[in-house]
Amino acid sequence: MDLSTSYLGLKLRNPIIVGSSKLTSTFENVKKCIDQGAGAIVLKSLFEEQLLTDSDRLIEKDAKYFWYPEAIDYISTYSKAYGIREHLDLIKEIKAYSKDVPVIVSVNCVTNKEWPQFSKHFEDAGADAIELNISIFPFDTVTESISLEDEYVEIIREVKKNVNLPISVKIGPYFTNPNRIAKRLVKAGASGIVLFNRFYRPDINIETQEVVHDNFLSSSQEMTQSLRWVSILSQKLECDLSASTGIHDYQAVVKQLLAGASSIQLCSALYNKGIGYLDTILFDLQKWMTKNEYASISDFKGKVASDANNTPAFLRVQYMKRNFD
Ligand SMILES: Cc1cc2nc3c(=O)[nH]c(=O)nc-3n(C[C@H](O)[C@H](O)[C@H](O)COP(=O)(O)O)c2cc1C
Repeated sequence: MDLSTSYLGLKLRNPIIVGSSKLTSTFENVKKCIDQGAGAIVLKSLFEEQLLTDSDRLIEKDAKYFWYPEAIDYISTYSKAYGIREHLDLIKEIKAYSKDVPVIVSVNCVTNKEWPQFSKHFEDAGADAIELNISIFPFDTVTESISLEDEYVEIIREVKKNVNLPISVKIGPYFTNPNRIAKRLVKAGASGIVLFNRFYRPDINIETQEVVHDNFLSSSQEMTQSLRWVSILSQKLECDLSASTGIHDYQAVVKQLLAGASSIQLCSALYNKGIGYLDTILFDLQKWMTKNEYASISDFKGKVASDANNTPAFLRVQYMKRNFD
């Protein structure tokens, strides 16, 4: 049975990717993911803000650098370089362990200023692709949607200028017209789009009346949001789609493949059930393929989404009375 798939021009032994998280932040964890059959790994994001804050702190600590702008520049660059060095070492260690499982570096960008230069180092360390985890949230009442979209596009263009690696963009679901932004991202140079990131969701404990931070894993019901957009965009875009959020079992994997996803990213399911659950999902996927007489992923990838009879279902947004009463 052929489980292989192509994602960002890379050959994956199967479509299951371990998504960016703590699960992919250490060599020990990544090794387990590879041993349990992961098709690819997206490393824990390197956060631009974190590196900038670290370098600012370092500068503040030693006031003499305020006298010399060149020194500020130097120490700022040095600190950021130090921050990514650990990441570069991790990439090299993983690639030394396994050449066959692509390693995708994740970069959390908030500007188009810093990352383009640093992205080049990932390429040199042996990374196979870059996933840009972009989340520019407006918390004001003046920013216009188009200016935010322009920032996404600008970041991709800048990174693209500096690296030869394929680039994917991981976005959230909050766009007025996901079709348009997706098309712009591809035009700017993205080879793939990850639909969708699940952002941090603060909650409130009604007993203590405090903000709590325990809502960090998805539920399986959340999968349908990306299922809709994978189905719609797989029919419109010349790029690979990677489905993310709420994919907790082989059934959800199969659904996303039928919708046209080239790969599937898992995170919460592996937090809940352990990295060994990868093996179970792959086993169940093969069982389903055998039962349905599919010899390869390409035999059924996009099958449901490409059937025009199904399009209206994915485009429908309102509950019409006649369907639900
Ligand atoms: C603890 C934790 C840490 C995460 N860290 C990152 C990160 O650094 N970068 C990123 O792009 N996504 C991060 N994510 C989001 C996941 O990669 C994934 O997109 C999200 O959890 C939805 O997938 P799921 O439903 O399979 O969990 C994180 C998720 C969790 C639970």
